[in-house]
Amino acid sequence: MTDPAAPVLTIDGPSGAGKGTVSRIAASRLGWHYLDSGALYRAVGVAASWANLDLSDGAALVRCTFDTAIGFREQPEGDLRVIVNDVDATDELRLETTGAVASAIAAIPEVRAALKDRQRAFRQPPGLVADGRDMGTVIFPDAPFKVFLTASAEERAERRYKQLKDKGVSVTIDGLLREILARDARDAQRTVAPLRPADDAVLIDTTGLSIDAVVDRVLALVR
Ligand code: DC
Repeated sequence: MTDPAAPVLTIDGPSGAGKGTVSRIAASRLGWHYLDSGALYRAVGVAASWANLDLSDGAALVRCTFDTAIGFREQPEGDLRVIVNDVDATDELRLETTGAVASAIAAIPEVRAALKDRQRAFRQPPGLVADGRDMGTVIFPDAPFKVFLTASAEERAERRYKQLKDKGVSVTIDGLLREILARDARDAQRTVAPLRPADDAVLIDTTGLSIDAVVDRVLALVR
């Protein structure tokens, strides 16, 4: 059962603004639950790829959203694994190509509607940190704490480059910058739940800030 009384801290923003890292640390410090809403869109994207669905077939993608079982499994060392239809899809989920598919699927209003209740179900005591694009505007509009993280596109591309290089993935900064700008444009321009800060969100530009500094600012809002 969802508990509407449980407090929610929403952390929205474009890809690479540091939402994932900041949200996970904030959730762990507060002892609250954590919702990675992007992982739900990515999970549907992975399931759609496995089923060889045509990304222009909206009806098939909506059916796929309803039919896809998505589970989160926390590992003892804190790592979060994402299970799609009983298969651990965590590594595939994190690929740039999956992000691009997720962003395309996320523009379909019925897909967003189909994922609404699954996201709201994460609102449980003692509280929830919800990471995404529309957490403060659409999914938890009554959240008492809302943050919108940004960073320059160049810095976001550089952060992503470092992450991927550490994982041994070969990419170029220029290529990543182009992908980030294209994804920003698609996420911000879609007609349903476009990426934008909630009117009552606190904006934090993370360009040049350390993760710890961002986490401190975010937690200062809650404490
Ligand atoms: O945060 P992420 O990179 O894992 O998200 C992948 C895509 O999913 C992103 O490009 C847009 C979409 N998304 C969304 O539309 N709404 C959300 N709340 C989270 C993600």
